Amino acid sequence: MTAPIAVALDAPDLPTLSRWAFETSPFVSTLKVGLEVFCRDGAAAVQAARDAAMRAGADHARIFLDLKLHDIPATVAGAASAVRDLHPDYLTVHAAGGPEMIAAAARALPDTRITAVTILTSLDDSVLESIGMRGPSLDAAVRLAVLAVEAGARAIVCSPLEVAAIRAAVSDDITLITPGVRPAGAGVQDQKRVATPESALAAGADLLVIGRPITGAASPGEAARELRDALPAAR
Ligand code: C5P
Repeated sequence: MTAPIAVALDAPDLPTLSRWAFETSPFVSTLKVGLEVFCRDGAAAVQAARDAAMRAGADHARIFLDLKLHDIPATVAGAASAVRDLHPDYLTVHAAGGPEMIAAAARALPDTRITAVTILTSLDDSVLESIGMRGPSLDAAVRLAVLAVEAGARAIVCSPLEVAAIRAAVSDDITLITPGVRPAGAGVQDQKRVATPESALAAGADLLVIGRPITGAASPGEAARELRDALPAAR
């Protein structure tokens, strides 16, 4: 059994990414390749994650391509089409790009869950106001999540503190994904607002993005196994 965890493979190089994917994929549902790794290594990073999971016997592993696209609809559709051959299970776009942009991404990749990022957890209410976005951030996140789902997004990235309100506003088949998750007692690093895996799931999250508490451990595989064993069964 795997846990509803997307391991953030924010690795300094491809061999490290492969090792993390190999060690953790037996215990988690999803492997996340982010912007930094993709800018450096491109498609090879996704291939390396998938190959490592296969070698580990984890052919269930889903690929989460976290590129947070945000541009005019034609450009986002082009970028989404450009990663079609990688068959990502999830591809992120910024909900703030608007409904046409989200719809364009969904049309370009019908077999991928276009995943809308609501409000970056690095933005607080005063920054939101300074960039002209109507807050408070909880209201803005719910508003953007509903807009994104109506436009064709099938998953939403939000803070664990917003997940209950968004769960109440969108249907059950929408996958809610929360970063900023830390096991009790783990270091928070640069995450400002954190929740434990148990509380994020209880609030309605379907998939937990967890990076450094796993990849920074002496044994990422053991850390992933311990997290899986501590979690209640997925929703
Ligand atoms: O190491 P850590 O668990 O903080 O990693 C979290 C991952 O989730 C990173 O890859 C980060 O880019 C991503 N993320 C985040 N906050 C968001 C969206 C994505 O931390 N709002």
